[in-house]
Amino acid sequence: MKNFWQSLPRPFFALAPMDDVTDTVFRQIVASCGKPDVFFTEFVSCEGLCSPGRDRLLPKLKFSEKERPVVAQIWGSKPENFLQTAKLVKNLGFDGVDINMGCPDRSVMKAGGGGVMIKDPVLVKEVILAAKEGAGELPLSVKTRVGFDKIQIESWIGNLLELNLQALTIHGRTVKELSKVPAHWEEIGKAVQLRDQMKAETLIIGNGDVESYGDGLEKCKIFGVDGAMIGRGIFDNLWFFDSRVDPQKITSENQLKVLLEHAKLFEDTWGNSKNFAILKKFFKAYVRGFKGASKLRESLMETRSLQEIKEQLLRAGQL
Ligand SMILES: Cc1cc2nc3c(=O)[nH]c(=O)nc-3n(C[C@H](O)[C@H](O)[C@H](O)COP(=O)(O)O)c2cc1C
Repeated sequence: MKNFWQSLPRPFFALAPMDDVTDTVFRQIVASCGKPDVFFTEFVSCEGLCSPGRDRLLPKLKFSEKERPVVAQIWGSKPENFLQTAKLVKNLGFDGVDINMGCPDRSVMKAGGGGVMIKDPVLVKEVILAAKEGAGELPLSVKTRVGFDKIQIESWIGNLLELNLQALTIHGRTVKELSKVPAHWEEIGKAVQLRDQMKAETLIIGNGDVESYGDGLEKCKIFGVDGAMIGRGIFDNLWFFDSRVDPQKITSENQLKVLLEHAKLFEDTWGNSKNFAILKKFFKAYVRGFKGASKLRESLMETRSLQEIKEQLLRAGQL
């Protein structure tokens, strides 16, 4: 039975699912700088994928071979839609299915998905069974938080560990804490101990505030997790997953080169089907650390094509 999770190195590193950030274009860019051991898509709504609006969401599930192993992350609240969506994910050729049970977004939780699922263990079980049925031989994983409004390692994480998942990502904050407090890594460590006591085989991935590759290695060692997941850290260092790259030695020239590659791949992949303004959130990662960077970033905010980006770089004497 195909299961990529078992053949990953230990510890392994994952790029976190990030809505409107980790599409196929950005994942390919990250892969070209330094590839993590596993990629996740942005989360996609099962309810949306099972509705007439499906075609609008399918671009979120686009991927290329360069991104393997790549796991599709889905969210929703209706078991039947999880079954159908997991089937779709399998047919699209993904390496795994991941269910989001941690998103604090109000509209997601109002629809009964993401973090609010922590409050409904009966539904969680139904959803997992349905997703497993749809996923067939594809491995199923869950990404969640340490609790809803309080830390619930035994009751919540213990509940998930009984459900025979291949992997479980634990973001070390409660849903209510959003991103406002430092991640409680010691609680993630307790989840690992619980897993071992229960003799469950689920891999545990720790997530929250991992600042560098070295920091990730250290956290894996201290807290016993099988892997670390990195979200916002990628914006501070696009070469995060290449342990040979010293972040202090990354030049602005290299960063701007990647910006141009990103904008080109964006145009080649999406044409006019995606708003070019999405790229704005990446400019800070690419344009910094040199005199005039903030002025250049400002002018890039007005650009609407690769050509216009090139013109602004030329004007700033950076091309
Ligand atoms: C812009 C953005 C979008 C996110 N979208 C998702 C998502 O689609 N699915 C998900 O499970 N988590 C999502 N997250 C949460 C991250 O996956 C991760 O759990 C969180 O950022 C903590 O990790 P970090 O401290 O390494 O950033 C998102 C976070 C950010 C900043």
